[in-house]
Amino acid sequence: MNRKTLIVANWKMNLNVSQSSLLMHRLDKKIVSHHNIEIVIAPSMLALQPLSKEINHQKFSLACQNAYFKDEGAFTGEVSFSMLNGLVNYGIVGHSARRIYFHESLEEVRDKVKAAVRNDIVPILCIGETKPERLADETSQVLHDQLTSAIYHLTSDEVSKIVIAYEPIWAISTFDGEQSKPADMQHALKFIRHQIEDLHGYDVAKEVRILYGGSVDSHDILAYLSLEDCDGVLVGAASLNYEQFSTIVQKAYTLKYSKE
Ligand code: 13P
Repeated sequence: MNRKTLIVANWKMNLNVSQSSLLMHRLDKKIVSHHNIEIVIAPSMLALQPLSKEINHQKFSLACQNAYFKDEGAFTGEVSFSMLNGLVNYGIVGHSARRIYFHESLEEVRDKVKAAVRNDIVPILCIGETKPERLADETSQVLHDQLTSAIYHLTSDEVSKIVIAYEPIWAISTFDGEQSKPADMQHALKFIRHQIEDLHGYDVAKEVRILYGGSVDSHDILAYLSLEDCDGVLVGAASLNYEQFSTIVQKAYTLKYSKE
């Protein structure tokens, strides 16, 4: 199964509209497109519309970092997935920052996954354990609970198209920022694929793309991308630096090319 490698830049709450355009312009100059690598940029909500007019859509897709699960109504301050339909191809759902700072529950994450799918936006579902959970040997339980609850309402066909990002929260720069050992991450990635297989069968499990979402940079990227069940990365801080991010893409390309 040749799953297309997915490299996602999560700019988080950084860069205003003109800074976003400038970074996009630099990335466009540096990055060469490749048919087997998909590059997705998740800027702030405000930058999505202008970037959608500026980017080379052959090379880049856009993602929202969050959206509300209702399609419309009196939800002051929110933006819905239905409003983002046509503007983004992907939507990050359940990022650890949202679960931790904004107390997003399993039910809200589930409803957002469903709303994204309903509006033809591919959810990038983030799941992962905290440091105390890891130390208590609860990683599998946490991954199981976050995954099964989030995809509960989806059909097998819908599940086969979603993206899952494994984010060990302790290995994200915002939180503990501990460096994970790439080889140790394969176990969790495989566990996620097995869970999908248990729920929806082998054919669906082998379609689903699973990303590594802890900290990566241009130096360690190859070690993560070489893991058997790793189909790409969700990059935070390093995606704000065009040299770093374009090197990450270049290395992903080299690895993929070496396998073709
Ligand atoms: P960092 O790469 O900044 O650690 O963030 C990872 C992440 O949260 C990706 O969404």
